[in-house]
Amino acid sequence: MYFPRYRARRTRKTESLRRMVRENHLRVEDLIYPMFSAFGENIKKEIPSMPGIYQQSIENLVEEAREVHALGIPAVVLFGIPEHKDPVGTDAYSDTGIIQRTIRALKQEVPELTVITDVCMCEYTDHGHCGVIKDGDVDNDSTLELLAAEALSHAQAGADIVAPSDMMDGRIAALREALDDNGFSHIPIMSYAVKYASAYYGPFRDAADSTPQFGDRRSYQMDSANRREAIREAALDVDECADFLMVKPALAYMDIIRDIKERFDLPLVVYNVSGEYSMVKAAAAKGWIDHDKVVMETLTGFKRAGADLIITYHAKEAARLLQGC
Ligand code: PBG
Ligand code: ZN
Repeated sequence: MYFPRYRARRTRKTESLRRMVRENHLRVEDLIYPMFSAFGENIKKEIPSMPGIYQQSIENLVEEAREVHALGIPAVVLFGIPEHKDPVGTDAYSDTGIIQRTIRALKQEVPELTVITDVCMCEYTDHGHCGVIKDGDVDNDSTLELLAAEALSHAQAGADIVAPSDMMDGRIAALREALDDNGFSHIPIMSYAVKYASAYYGPFRDAADSTPQFGDRRSYQMDSANRREAIREAALDVDECADFLMVKPALAYMDIIRDIKERFDLPLVVYNVSGEYSMVKAAAAKGWIDHDKVVMETLTGFKRAGADLIITYHAKEAARLLQGC
C-alpha cells in the first residue's frame, strides 16, 4: 500500500465519506457541567475571567440546571461558596451547608439530573487549602476524617456521586468506608485520581473563592513533569475501590489521559479546567480563533485521547452545537 496506488485523500473527499470513516464522536452523554452555588438570594454574578459562568444562589442555579437537563446533559458537578469559612471548613460537612442545601433543591426540582459533588476543603477553609493545617502544611490523616464526613453528608443530602479532589493519600478508602458503614454502599466515588498542581486552575479559584492564603498546593497535588507517578496514583485509587478515574487538567495532559485509559478499565473522566476555558474565550473575543470550531475540536480531542466523560464549562455550548442549533 503506497503512493500512487494508495491515496489517503480518497476517503476525505466528501462530508459523507468523512462521516463514514470518523473514528471518534462527542456525544451529549459525555458531558458534565460544573456549577458554583453561592450562599444568599438573588445572586447571579458572572466570573470575569470565565464569561458565561456564574456564581449563583440556589434558585438561579436550579433554573440553569433545568436548562442543562433539557439540553440532554446527564450530570452537573457542584462547588460551594459558603457564608462562613473557618480553619476546619465546617460548612463542608454541615447538614445545612451550602452544598447540602443545593443538592436537596436539585433533587427536588430536577430529579433526573445526576448530581456529582466536589469533595474538598479549600472552598470552606479560611486559609484556602484543601485540608487542615498542621506545622505549616496540610495534614493528611486528620483531613481524611473531614473529607469522609463531607462525602457522607453529601450522600445524606441526596448526591448521586461524590468526587474527592483534595489529593490526600488514602481518601478513596476513607470515603468508601464512611459511605458503606452508613448505608450508602450504592453511591459511586469519582476520584480526581491524577490531579496536577496547575496554573490552569487560576480562574476557578476566583470562581470558587478558594485561593490559598499562603504557599501553594504542591505538597499534595502532582508535579506536572511526572508521567509514571500518574499510573501509581491511579493504581492506588483502583485498589481503594474508586468507580471512576479522573485526569486533570486535560489539554496539557493528553499523554496521561491515554496512559490511564490503556492501563485501567474504569470509566475515565477528564476535567477541561477553568484556564483552558478562559483561553478559548479570550482568543475568541479578540477574533483570533473560531470559538465553536475550537471547542468541538478540543472536546473531540479528549475523546480521541481516551476520555469517556468530560467535565467542561463548554457543556451547554457543546450540547447545542451537537443538536445543530
Ligand atoms: C478544588 C478544585 C479545584 C478545581 C476543581 N476542584 C481547584 C484547585 O485544586 O485549586 C479546579 C477546576 C478548574 O480549574 O476548573 N480542589
Ligand atoms: Zn481543594
